[in-house]
Amino acid sequence: MTKILRVAVIGAGRMGADHIQRLNTRIHGAEVAAVVDVDLTRAQAAIEGIPGAIALADAEEALNNGDVNAVLIATPGFLHEDILLKAIAKDIPILCEKPLTPDAGSSWKIVEAEQKLGRKRIQVGFMRRFDAEYAALGKIIRDSELGELLMLHHQHRNPTTPAGFTNEMLINDSVVHEFDAIRYFTGEEITSVQVRLGKATRNAPAGQHDPQHVLIETASGVLADVEIYVNAKFGYEVATQASFEDGIVSIGADTGPYTRSNGRWGGEVTPGFEERFGAAYDAEIQSWVDAALRDEIGGPTAWDGYATAACCEAGVEAQKNGEKVAVKLNAKPALYR
Ligand SMILES: NC(=O)c1ccc[n+]([C@@H]2O[C@H](COP(=O)([O-])OP(=O)(O)OC[C@H]3O[C@@H](n4cnc5c(N)ncnc54)[C@H](O)[C@@H]3O)[C@@H](O)[C@H]2O)c1
Repeated sequence: MTKILRVAVIGAGRMGADHIQRLNTRIHGAEVAAVVDVDLTRAQAAIEGIPGAIALADAEEALNNGDVNAVLIATPGFLHEDILLKAIAKDIPILCEKPLTPDAGSSWKIVEAEQKLGRKRIQVGFMRRFDAEYAALGKIIRDSELGELLMLHHQHRNPTTPAGFTNEMLINDSVVHEFDAIRYFTGEEITSVQVRLGKATRNAPAGQHDPQHVLIETASGVLADVEIYVNAKFGYEVATQASFEDGIVSIGADTGPYTRSNGRWGGEVTPGFEERFGAAYDAEIQSWVDAALRDEIGGPTAWDGYATAACCEAGVEAQKNGEKVAVKLNAKPALYR
C-alpha cells in the first residue's frame, strides 16, 4: 500500500497554485512531486521552496514519471477529459477540479472508463461538501431534525467576472456548485432546470446577462432557486436558506468581528472563494489523500461530475429557450450505487 502520495499538480493557475500551497504546507500524507503548466515559468515559480519537486510543461511526462503516484487536475475544464483518461489508464488516485468535463457526453466517457477499470479513482472538486456549515445543514436534512426539507434558496454572488466569462459560464462554472449542493443536500437527482432572465445590470460585460434566476426541481419535488449574480460588486457571497416543515435554516452569512465605531456598525464582506472556502478546500484535499492511501476516494465521484454536467447542459438550454428543461441521465452504474 502507498505510504505517501507523490502528487503531480496539472495547471498552476489560481486554483492549482492554491492547492500546491496547501499540499506543501498543511496536508498530511502527500507531497508535491511535480507541477505541470504549459507556461513553464509558472510551473517553475510554483515549485520554489518545495524540496524534490520538478517543473514540467507536459502532463503526460508527469504521469509517466516514476516518482508520481497521484494527480491533481487544475487546468481549465475543457482540458480535463484527456488528462483524466490518461490518469485512469495509470490506475492512480485523481483529484479533478470541477467540472469533471464541460458536457455530459464527455463526462459519461469518464464514468465508462472508470467502470472498465472496476474501481473509483476520481474525486471531483466540489469542495462545498466539506464546508462546516454545509455539513451541518446536510445533517439537519438527513436526520429530519426539522421535518421534511421543502425548499432551498441559494444566493451565489461574485464581485466581478474575469475576462472572457461567458453567459454559459454562469451555469457551467458557477451554478454547477449549486447543482452539486442541491444533490448533496437532498440525496436526490435534479429532474429539471429553468432559467429566467430578468432586468440586467449595466455592470456586466457585453454578451453576458447578469443576474439570472435558476429554478430547479428534484426527484421528490423539492424546489430550489439560485440567484446567480456575478458582477454584484460588493464582494463574495455564497449563502443558502432551507425551508423545512418545522423551521428555517440559513447558512453562509458573513460572520467575524462585528464592530461599532464612528457612528457606524458592521463587519467585513468576504472578498472571494479562497477566503470563504479555504478551510473546506483543506478538508477536501485531506479527505482525498487519506482515502487514496486506503485505495479509496474521499468525496464526490465521477457520477456526481456526470450528473452535474447533465444539469449544466439542461441549464444552458434553458438559458436560451426560457423553458423548463428536463435533465437527461443514463442509468446509474453499480460502481456508484
Ligand atoms: N472548486 C472551486 O471553487 C474552483 C474555483 C476556481 C476554479 N476552479 C476550477 O479549477 C480549474 C482551474 O481554474 P483556474 O481558475 O485555476 O484557472 P487558471 O486559468 O487560473 O489556471 C489554469 C492553468 O492551467 C494552465 N494550463 C492550460 N493548459 C494546460 C495544459 N494543457 N497543461 C498544463 N497546464 C495547462 C494555464 O497555463 C494556467 O496556469 C477549472 O476547472 C476551474 O473550474 C474551481
